[in-house]
Amino acid sequence: MLLKNALVISHRIIKKVVMPGDIVVDATAGNGNDTLFLANLVGDAGKVYAFDIQDTAIENTRKKLIDNDKYNNVKLIKDSHENMDRYVPDGVKAVMFNLGYLPGGDHSIGTKPSSTIRALEKALSLLKPNGIITMVVYYGGDSGFDEKEAVMEYVKTIDYKKATVLVHEFANQINCPPIAICIEKCK
Ligand SMILES: C[S@@+](CC[C@H](N)C(=O)[O-])C[C@H]1O[C@@H](n2cnc3c(N)ncnc32)[C@H](O)[C@@H]1O
Repeated sequence: MLLKNALVISHRIIKKVVMPGDIVVDATAGNGNDTLFLANLVGDAGKVYAFDIQDTAIENTRKKLIDNDKYNNVKLIKDSHENMDRYVPDGVKAVMFNLGYLPGGDHSIGTKPSSTIRALEKALSLLKPNGIITMVVYYGGDSGFDEKEAVMEYVKTIDYKKATVLVHEFANQINCPPIAICIEKCK
């Protein structure tokens, strides 16, 4: 299905943009699915910087990479993504955000509006021209509503001469379907 869900849309966009040898960032490593996806795309000549604030997430991601023989081209960083500029060089091709909490983990240790927006700003400045940021925004149940509002407001304020922002929002699905936001840096 072409319009399956926000995560599939974000993966399709990343797949079109990211090439072997690229430098990319997984801003929310979680259980490592997106980190592994990126590691496969950039190959041995590329580099993935993957961030998470939780030990469990870093260890789950490390295990996933080792199990799939993809550990060599990934740097795992236990720090908030708002500090990504301390670790990641300029010239990044793509940054993936998958907001919310660790599946199966503590809902209170999810992403937060202010640090997410600071991280978006850092990601935009590290990105090379025509580089891409994808963000999957989860809301519903006990969390995510304030973050969704803050992110949706923030992306509208990004200077159109600096980057193009596309919001993929499902209009007729039930149960707060996640939103995919895609930001392409201008030349
Ligand atoms: C929905 S999960 C990510 C799923 C992951 N992309 C995957 O493929 O499994 C969100 C993750 O963001 C992490 N997180 C929350 N705040 C963060 C922050 N400020 N910096 C980096 N990661 C953060 C959480 O610990 C959680 O593991």
